[in-house]
Amino acid sequence: MSVRDPDELSVPPDGRPASEQPQWRKDFPIDWPQDTYISRRELGKFLVLTSFAFVVGQAWIWIKGWFGRAPKWPVTKIGRVSEISVGETLLFHYPDKLHPRLLVRASEHELLAYDQKCTHLSCPVIAEVDKSIFYCPCHHGTFDLKTGRVISGPPPRPLPKVKLRVQGDEIFAVGVEDRMS
Ligand code: FES
Repeated sequence: MSVRDPDELSVPPDGRPASEQPQWRKDFPIDWPQDTYISRRELGKFLVLTSFAFVVGQAWIWIKGWFGRAPKWPVTKIGRVSEISVGETLLFHYPDKLHPRLLVRASEHELLAYDQKCTHLSCPVIAEVDKSIFYCPCHHGTFDLKTGRVISGPPPRPLPKVKLRVQGDEIFAVGVEDRMS
């Protein structure tokens, strides 16, 4: 028994050789099994192209990650511990005038700072330290004072958190943590 080359035309339904086939089949020699058959060469080509696309995608992600690294935040003095009492807030701008932030002294030893703009439609939020929330009066959104996470209302994301460093009596902003959840 001969092993048939899969690249050859398949056997006609009546099993007779091509020379004995009726004229209509010779006129329309579409070979459906062959037409849907994926040859090894095509499969190989497909795998090579898919692998190549994968490698290019990985390289692109790596390049983007390399060049899109976290920005270098400045170290900026924003106030003094002795100037802000427990329960009080201090408005400051960081890293520039376009970014208003709120510093809150939540307790004797706890200083927190967040973006002042609500993540819904950018209304300024108000710290309500006794309730441990930031409140947005525009659409009644609330955020957790300790984490900046959304408690209620339409804001889609937490408030970006400003990283602080305290040296003696001085308070410095050293970066911003933008979180999605
Ligand atoms: S702008 Fe703050 S809840 Fe809409």
